[in-house]
Amino acid sequence: MKPLKIAVAGLGTVGMGVLTCLAKGGEALAQRAGRELQVVAINARSRGKDRGMVLDHIPWTDDPVALARSDADVVVELIGGEGGVALDLAKAALSAGKHFVTANKALLATHGAALAALAEKNRSALRFEAAVAGGIPIVKAMRESFVGYGVRSVRGILNGTCNYILTRMEATGNEFADALAEAQRLGFAEADPELDVGGGDTAHKLALLASLAFGTAPDLAQMSVTGIRHLTYDDIRFAHEFGYRIKLLGIARQMPHGIDQRVQPAMVKIGTPLADVDGAFNAVMADVGEAGPYFFEGRGAGAAPTASAVVADIVDVARGANGPCFGVPAAELSALTPALPDSRRAAFYLRFAVLDMPGVLAEIAGRLAESGVSIESMIQRGRSPGEPVAIVMITHESPEPAVARALKVIAASDKVLGNPCMIPMETG
Ligand code: HSE
Repeated sequence: MKPLKIAVAGLGTVGMGVLTCLAKGGEALAQRAGRELQVVAINARSRGKDRGMVLDHIPWTDDPVALARSDADVVVELIGGEGGVALDLAKAALSAGKHFVTANKALLATHGAALAALAEKNRSALRFEAAVAGGIPIVKAMRESFVGYGVRSVRGILNGTCNYILTRMEATGNEFADALAEAQRLGFAEADPELDVGGGDTAHKLALLASLAFGTAPDLAQMSVTGIRHLTYDDIRFAHEFGYRIKLLGIARQMPHGIDQRVQPAMVKIGTPLADVDGAFNAVMADVGEAGPYFFEGRGAGAAPTASAVVADIVDVARGANGPCFGVPAAELSALTPALPDSRRAAFYLRFAVLDMPGVLAEIAGRLAESGVSIESMIQRGRSPGEPVAIVMITHESPEPAVARALKVIAASDKVLGNPCMIPMETG
């Protein structure tokens, strides 16, 4: 059989990881692929940079989009970004009938349905295992393995930077800013960390998981996204006292009248699998109805884990896989109907910074009662008349909008300082 010819755009950490993995894989990888895997073209921003590997034998192109006109069978895009060159290359490669493999979550979360349609029109494969949770084979599992019973919900720790920061806050007692600075120093966080800590990167990955789970077009607009900047060490300490840990989760659930997609910090019970995911690791929990829950954990970023997923896609392409990339044909992807706001119910952790003076607690409890929210337990530490203190409550299960309404009124009180913190308690 003829070799599979591969063009690689982007030679950063992941791109070099892919070239290394392909070179090391040799005969064993060719056996899995059913044919030789041959890199016939490469591109990066700077040709002269020392990348620690001799690349002189591979034809170089300065223009990434020109890879779509090379003799490659598959174009591997590792440039990143939701539009720009990555999008131009995706469109050009698929239009030219080439297969397209990418690790680019932003691109697919934004243009996934259109690119899937273009791939199908040109009988090309579009594959993106590396875009979600690095080396964890969750895209393949959602697209191919769970189809018998269907996925009811998927919850994931999808951003290693955030998980690292939260783990370090718990271990050291540091506040968010110090934990972020440490993560940046050690190379776990980008110089501009906003996409990670603001929840955007998790949102991109969740949009893809939701699409794979429910046969809907990826839809970032119908998603509420909250990051981790507002969390304090106090929140982490109080969570621990209640037997919980705070994790940034991406959650997509089939509700009776629509799909609830959200990225937010959540309380997960210590001793359950998601709570025990430490440091920069990722994890995904899929509820597959009668077939049960499934839990995946592994490395979500870095050269080898991400290259592992990219190369798995290349091998699939070499074997002729080119079914619909989201599991159902692009023309049949439905528009995502968001769940009704009241259908979202949970117990909530609430933290208020208040002035320690008579009537504060009664006022907070009264406002919650007016919204029909009942309190299960409460902690107030210390006593500093006239000074700020923290009051923490766990509510009984309540509709989210009712709790949010009460908090808005409470936040307006002159005895309450800053914005109250509200974190749902995840079950299971
Ligand atoms: N920046 C991501 C993370 C990896 O911290 O997990 C790439 O999506």
